[in-house]
Amino acid sequence: MRAFRYHSTAATGGPRLEEVPAPVPGDGEVLVRVHCASLNPVDWKIAAGKFRLLVKGGLPRTMGSDFAGEVVAVGAGADGFGPGDRVWGFIDPFKRTQGTFAELCPVPSDYLFALPDDLTYRDAAALACVGTTAVTLCDLTRTVSGSRVLVNGAAGGVGHVAVQVAKARGARVTAVASGAREEFVRALGADEFIDYRRSPVGEWPSGFDAVFDCVPNLPRRVQRRLIRSGGQYATTLPDALTFLLDPLTNAVGRVHRHGVMIGPSRRIMDELLEGFRSRQLHCHIEAEYPLERAAEAIARSRSGRVQGKLVVRVG
Ligand SMILES: NC(=O)c1ccc[n+]([C@@H]2O[C@H](COP(=O)([O-])OP(=O)(O)OC[C@H]3O[C@@H](n4cnc5c(N)ncnc54)[C@H](OP(=O)(O)O)[C@@H]3O)[C@@H](O)[C@H]2O)c1
Repeated sequence: MRAFRYHSTAATGGPRLEEVPAPVPGDGEVLVRVHCASLNPVDWKIAAGKFRLLVKGGLPRTMGSDFAGEVVAVGAGADGFGPGDRVWGFIDPFKRTQGTFAELCPVPSDYLFALPDDLTYRDAAALACVGTTAVTLCDLTRTVSGSRVLVNGAAGGVGHVAVQVAKARGARVTAVASGAREEFVRALGADEFIDYRRSPVGEWPSGFDAVFDCVPNLPRRVQRRLIRSGGQYATTLPDALTFLLDPLTNAVGRVHRHGVMIGPSRRIMDELLEGFRSRQLHCHIEAEYPLERAAEAIARSRSGRVQGKLVVRVG
């Protein structure tokens, strides 16, 4: 089978398409024929050697985290799925060396969800990781009807879904992106818009119940100015301080800080499916690339300017 993988994290050891033996599902795993995957910045960050302390397993590594496809085979103890089932989900790119930019991918069964007929492989693969991240942002910040939320990075993969999930929960959303994206994020439901290139962060409104930092680039002093006392801040790129210090400072500080680490959750997938079915949620796909052109998708993602998501068509 074909897999887009790398043997080195050095700049010269970039990923390439290779013919590799078909994997066999281990205990608790389901082998999925991947139809579509999508690109997340974490995929090329790990391939570039970042997050060394968090990454388990060695080289080579196949890129790709989220997927949509069909079940080919089921390992021992992976109950609930059978050959031919339509499925979607993601793998943990820190723990797994066999990613989803491959025709076949072994997936732990708890990361696998039934894909209803009314959601295409393309849309499901685009939505899995960023959708889970968006719902987790809302959960961590206790975003509910009437919450005032600021979404920083509202035009990107995570941000554009987070705007919609927060709106679906009844929040009032202020979206931050570059001016050219105003029409796009307003069409997603954003109530107010800030062009970060024209409006310095010191001039942004304050009193938010929650800030979703999906860039992320808002310093602590800015968080304290933007968020009301007792309000919530969540970053999509937590660092050691977020895990070590914030649980302590959250007990006494006026702003509660959280870091998103996504995991598989049926409840979250159901909230995404419900949003999709009620037409309150869709995933914007900027472009689709065949597997053999995955390197172009990576270059585009590295630009930091993607609007919505990039899909990789695998088979
Ligand atoms: N912790 C987790 O589980 C998790 C999950 C998913 C993602 N992440 C992380 O979250 C971050 C975002 O992921 P993503 O998939 O949304 O990335 P992305 O799609 O590549 O984000 C691109 C977007 O960022 C916007 N942007 C860039 N600079 C900006 C700025 N200064 N202010 C506001 N917007 C800005 C761009 O909008 P403009 O062109 O308008 O500037 C573009 O639309 C990444 O660091 C990713 O690694 C973490």
